[in-house]
Parts: sequence; C-alpha cells; structure tokens
Amino acid sequence: MRAGFNLFEFQILWMLTVWSNAVTVYVEVLVKTHSTAKREDVKNHVLTLLNRHRMVFGDYKWVEFDDDFLAKHVVSVAIVDAERQPIDLKSCCLSIHVFTLYEDGVSTLNLEVEEDLSAANHWLLPAAEFHGIWESLVYENGVKKQLLDYVSTTIFFSDKNVDSNLIAWNRVVLLHGPPGTGKTSLCKALAQKLSIRLSSRYSYGQFVEINSHSLFSKWFSESGKLVTRMFQKIQQLIDDKEALVFVLIDEVESLTAARNAAKAGTEPSDAIRVVNAVLTQLDQIKRHPNVVILTTSNVTEKIDLAFVDRADIKQYIGPPSTEAIFSIYLSCLEELMKCQIIYPRQQLLTMLELETMGFQESNVSELSLMLRNIAVKSKGLSGRALRKLPFLAHALFVETPTVTLETFLQAMDRAVNKQMEEKANLVNCV
Ligand SMILES: Nc1ncnc2c1ncn2[C@@H]1O[C@H](COP(=O)(O)OP(=O)(O)O)[C@@H](O)[C@H]1O
Ligand SMILES: [Mg+2]
Repeated sequence: MRAGFNLFEFQILWMLTVWSNAVTVYVEVLVKTHSTAKREDVKNHVLTLLNRHRMVFGDYKWVEFDDDFLAKHVVSVAIVDAERQPIDLKSCCLSIHVFTLYEDGVSTLNLEVEEDLSAANHWLLPAAEFHGIWESLVYENGVKKQLLDYVSTTIFFSDKNVDSNLIAWNRVVLLHGPPGTGKTSLCKALAQKLSIRLSSRYSYGQFVEINSHSLFSKWFSESGKLVTRMFQKIQQLIDDKEALVFVLIDEVESLTAARNAAKAGTEPSDAIRVVNAVLTQLDQIKRHPNVVILTTSNVTEKIDLAFVDRADIKQYIGPPSTEAIFSIYLSCLEELMKCQIIYPRQQLLTMLELETMGFQESNVSELSLMLRNIAVKSKGLSGRALRKLPFLAHALFVETPTVTLETFLQAMDRAVNKQMEEKANLVNCV
C-alpha cells in the first residue's frame, strides 16, 4: 500500500528549499521492532521533541525521552547528514523518516539445485546488520552525500517514467579503488540509507549480494544456466513493486579476469558464458524502475569495459586523508571509553577544534595533538587497517585490561609503527 504522502513530492520540496537556500534537516526515527504505533503519531511526538530544542549543532541523537510515548515506542531520534554548523530547527525544512529494522539477518538465495550452492546473500532493508555503517564511514569532499543525491535522483526519474531515450541515465553504480577502502560497506550503507529515505514510496528494500569471486570458484563447470536461475530469483523480488531492490555485484574484477583467462585459452570457455550471462541478465533487470545495481572493483585500471560502460555513476574511493583517519580513530577511542576499556573517560578535541586553536599545545589539547600525530603517521593505511589498529594496540602493547587514554595512545603509536614496518617489508618483498 502506498503511504499517504509521497516522498518524491517531498523531494521536490527539498530541491526547491535548497534552491531558495533554506536548509533541509533529515531526521531518522528508529522505532522499536515490536511497536505498533502509527507513523503519523510517532512523527507528531518527534515534532514536539524537536520544537523543544530550537538549536542543534550538526548531527545529534536522542536515545532517552521524557515523553512516555517516545520512551515506549522509539529507540532513537537522530539528526543526520548535517553540516557541522548550528541548525535552527524552527526555520529549516524538516524531513522526518520513521523506520524499523529487520532483524532476521542474512539469508542465502537458494537455487534449489544443490544444497551447498549459495548463489547470493540476501537481506531485507533496513537491516539491523547494516545499522550504523553509513555513519562509520568517513570520506572527504561530500562523497557520501553526492552518491546519495545521485542515486536518489535516478530512482526519482525512473519513478516518474522519464523517457531514457531523451534524457540518458541508468541505475548502475561503480565504486572502484584499492582494497579495504570501504567500497562494499558503502554499497550496503547506501542501500540502507535509500530504503530509509524512500520509505514512503517503497515499503521495504531488498539487498542481494553476489560475490563474483565465489561465483566463479563454484560455478565454472555449471555454465551460465545457474546465473540465469539466480537472476530469476532476483526477478521475483523485483516483481513486488513495493520493494526497492539493490543488487550488489562485488569485486567485478573477477569477472574480467575470468573472461581474459578464457580468451587466452587458460580457462574453459564456460567462463565467458558465465560472464556474458551475468551481463545479459543485468541489462534485463536494470530496465525495472525499482532496481539499483551496485558494483565494486578493487582495481582502478583494467576494469572490464562491459562494466564501465554500463555504469552511470563511477566513483573512485581512495585511502582516507589525515582528517578522515583522525575521525576514524576518534570514533574507535569513543567506543573504547564507552566500554570502559579506556578509563576514565577524557574529552578529545575534533580536528576542527584543534585547527581553530591553531594546534597550540595546552593541557586541553595535549592528548588530541598526540592522536593527530598518530593520524599523520598512519597515512597510507586502508580504512580496514585503521579500524583494526586499536585492537592490535591493545592486544600487543597494553598489559592491563583497563588503561588510561594516554597509555592507550602510546600503545597505538607503537602499533602504527609496527604496521608501517610490515607494510614496508611487504613492499620490499614484492
Ligand atoms: N573511509 C573509511 N572510513 C571508515 N571505515 C572504513 C573506511 N574504509 C574502510 N573502512 C572499514 O574497513 C572495513 C572494510 O571495508 P570494505 O567495505 O570491506 O572495503 P572494500 O570493499 O573497499 O575492500 C569496513 O568494515 C570499514 O569499517
Ligand atoms: Mg569489498
């Protein structure tokens, strides 16, 4: 059933407000799984809450409520994707999205051929497993916002039946860049975000993850028939027009490699048949307005032209900048303080605050400057390596279960040195 008001009209309103320089503030309201509260009632209570807090500064989250209704039904109310500046909630345009999370976790798309043949992983969106990924990913220059705007515009055009012969666009996204830079995570986060933002247009989302690598290791001998069968399953999901379906083809370079190997005669020609079957099926499903195809590649050069040509949105995702590294570390340290592994809790400054203070050393800035030096040293490590680093620091260089922030930062410093040495050794070996 289509909900009372249309998000796309809401988005037009949003575009108009952007043009007229009014700020749109996105508010995501996570409702408890078993709550039966009506969305409109939740919205009204959230509006009352927001009315009581005229000014906020950037992103903000409420998890405790005086209002009994909110306390009973709502997990959190979050102002998201805001610039880091004061927001006047009275004069901005509020875009409120009420949602619950599917907690079923991952399932496999079963092809009913052989028991152990898992074609793809499958989630219902918004998924509990994907919650928080969007916020955890740090990129510069508004990369996340651009991607989100781009994909929501393509869905909007499709929904409005804009003739694609007159205005060319499609809904295929390609994220490429070195391994460990968050491409797969970003695809999941993007799908989650869109299923929340578009929840008044689509009742729910489907996320199907096809791992190209396992597809080839398992299916070489099985020819393209299994691919066809897998896409038939996906087609069944697409047939429900209330669902927004995301298909992720991860690490498409495996397809390219397989195709090249087959051309060179070192792999059976089955490989070509499988790749071609995937491409044909992709072309079939991308005609449907409720489908978004996400692809990733760990190599930037030599991506199969078949994929490059099909993708409308091509985005390079590189290793994090010093600022991004600093914020990733900051979020890790916050978590360790929350869990009381680092104790007592101490306030760390943000990079912006340090900059404003001209990086002057004082009692207040000392530990934050120490963290900045660690971030500078960590340049070149992937996002994946950075998120592992605090764990390594604790495992290798901390003697007691609970430590002070200063001791932990010293351990992190040593862990970065070790990582960098290992990286250099690896390069020398190659
Ligand atoms: N820019 C980033 N900001 C925060 N975390 C990141 C970033 N890049 C990578 N990560 C972390 O690294 C892990 C691996 O990312 P993944 O999506 O598998 O990378 P890729 O698909 O590019 O190899 C993720 O869990 C993510 O938390
Ligand atoms: Mg990946």
